[in-house]
Amino acid sequence: MSKSNKISMSVVRRLPRYYRFLLELKNSGIYRVSSQALAEKMGSSASQIRQDLHCFGGFGQQGYGYDVPKLFDELSAILGLDNHYKAILLGAGNLGRAIINHVDFSSRGFALTAVFDSNPDVIGTQINGMTVLDVNTLEDFCMTEKPDAAVLCLPKESAEQTSDILYACGIRSFWNFSHYDLSLKYSDVVTENVHLNDSLMTLCCCMTAANDDSQIVLNKAAKPRKPRKFSQAKDNS
Ligand code: NAI
Repeated sequence: MSKSNKISMSVVRRLPRYYRFLLELKNSGIYRVSSQALAEKMGSSASQIRQDLHCFGGFGQQGYGYDVPKLFDELSAILGLDNHYKAILLGAGNLGRAIINHVDFSSRGFALTAVFDSNPDVIGTQINGMTVLDVNTLEDFCMTEKPDAAVLCLPKESAEQTSDILYACGIRSFWNFSHYDLSLKYSDVVTENVHLNDSLMTLCCCMTAANDDSQIVLNKAAKPRKPRKFSQAKDNS
C-alpha cells in the first residue's frame, strides 16, 4: 500500500473484523473466499468488502476471489501486528487485572512489558506472571525501556496527572479506559478511548428503536442478501 493512500477511520475500524473472519477461515482450512461469501459471513455487502479491500490494493482476482492466507498476511501487515509495540499498563485494579489476564497483547501487535500501580498493597504482587511496579519508578522505566504505548486503567482523578507524566516521557499512544480524554489536551496523541457503558447504551438505543412505538428509526447498513442461484452477475473479486 502506498503511503499516499487515504484510508477512512470507518474502514480502519472494520479491519479487525476482517482479520478475525479471515483467521477463522484460515484455521478451518479454507484457502479461497469470494467477496460475496465474506460479506455473508460478516453481515456486510460484497461491494462494501471489495471497496474496503480495494483501499489496500484490491488483493482479489476476478473469478477466483480472495486468497485467504495471502489476504490474512496482507491485513496483518496493514494492521501492523508484527510491530510488537511495547505497552505498559497503569492501574492494576479490577479492570487492569482483567485486561492483563485476558487480553492477548502479543497477537494484536503489542508486548505488555510492565504494569504500574500506586497502592503499596498492590505493588509487588503478581498478575499473570507480571510483577506490579511502583508508579514512582515510571519515569526511570520509560527513560530506559522507551515504551511505545500506555494502557490507562486509572480512576479519572489520577488519569490526568499520570498521562502528563507519560506524555513528558514521550508516550503518544494510549489505549484509554479511564474517563479522562487526554486527546483534548494533547492534539498529537493517538488515543483509542474505550467505554463499555457507551457500548451498552448503544445496545439500549437499538433495542428502544426496535419498539413499535419508538420515535426513531435506525438507518442500518444493508443486510446481506441471500446468494442467488442463477445469478448472471460475475463476482469481481
Ligand atoms: P480499581 O479501583 O479496582 O483500580 C484502580 C487502580 O488504579 C487501583 O489499583 C489504584 O491503586 C490504581 N491507581 C490509582 N491512582 C494511580 C496512579 N496515579 N498511578 C498508578 N496507579 C493508580 O478500579 P477499576 O474497577 O479497575 O477501574 C479503573 C478505572 O477504569 C475507573 O476509573 C473506572 O471508572 C474505569 N472503568 C472504565 C471502563 C470502560 O469501559 N472505560 C470499564 C470499567 C472501569
